[in-house]
Amino acid sequence: MRSLTSRRRHKAVRPLLMLLALLVTGTLYSLAAPPQQSSADTSLVATGKGLFTQSCASCHGLGGEGTSAGPAITDVGALAVDFEVSTGRMPKAGPAIQSAPKVNLFTQTETDALAAYVASLATGPAVPTKAQYDPAGLTEEQLARGGELFRTNCSACHNYQGSGGALPNGAVAPSLLDASAKHIYEAMRVGPNQMPIFNESTMPDTDVRSIAGYLQELHAQPAGGLTFGGVGPVAEGFFAWVIGIGALTLFAVWIAARGARAR
Ligand code: HEC
Ligand code: HEC
Repeated sequence: MRSLTSRRRHKAVRPLLMLLALLVTGTLYSLAAPPQQSSADTSLVATGKGLFTQSCASCHGLGGEGTSAGPAITDVGALAVDFEVSTGRMPKAGPAIQSAPKVNLFTQTETDALAAYVASLATGPAVPTKAQYDPAGLTEEQLARGGELFRTNCSACHNYQGSGGALPNGAVAPSLLDASAKHIYEAMRVGPNQMPIFNESTMPDTDVRSIAGYLQELHAQPAGGLTFGGVGPVAEGFFAWVIGIGALTLFAVWIAARGARAR
């Protein structure tokens, strides 16, 4: 008690001690935490650089600056790399106009490393967080808006049921029925190949979530008429041929019969 009262004379001691404590913890934290994180980043970037040199540099250049075989990708960010690699579009097999989506050649860690390397080249969009693309919890109204947005902006290429379609120059807009919400988000921001870019000013994150939610609903319960069991255009053409031409033939026979009677 005596020492306490004696300390009370130096009013500045307590605040000074607290300041000191703050400084010490702050300094300790800044010494300990960030170097830890950046060393993890550095090794991820280094791994990514190695993978990039092996699998991507032949077309995109060692530093992503681009070559005659592939565009510059210094500023596309982790987002575009995550999309192109995890959907199996990259590494492209050759100079084909469109790389058919295939199996992802890389593990998730390798994909992250490639993304980290490209992201280290210049600032670009980061891989989206779940909150940005996950349609969970959207209202009926928002889902309906997603349907509207889809029909206005996407159905011309991907078909109004999202089942995909051919484009004039031999390219194909793939079916979206199995596309994850994350890939829908990323595709809209990247604009892969011949698809236009939908950026945040024209399509805010909420709208992207609405479209993803609408597509998920569409997938859960495909609506919109008889699909002949979804057996595809050839079989559907066959049905149209048999039933359509069949009806026309019957009609022609009927006219001929009537004509014969009228004579
Ligand atoms: C055979 C050449 C080739 C190889 C190998 C290749 N790419 Fe590509 N890449 C292209 C071409 C051409 C395009 C643009 C046309 C397209 O999308 O098909 C492209 C597009 C991209 C894009 C989209 C760019 C944008 O503007 O949005 C990314 C990201 C990308 N490549 C990353 C990679 C990564 C990462 C690798 C290695 C894992 C890789 N590429 C390997 C040729 C290649
Ligand atoms: C001008 C035609 C066009 C329009 C409009 C368009 N897309 Fe695409 N989309 C494409 C093409 C072409 C591809 C395939 C690109 C490639 O091969 O890399 C594609 C790819 C995709 C993919 C990747 C699918 C996969 O299997 O990896 C998604 C997701 C997608 N589009 C969603 C959309 C959405 C959502 C909209 C509307 C907001 C839209 N697209 C509008 C042409 C279009």
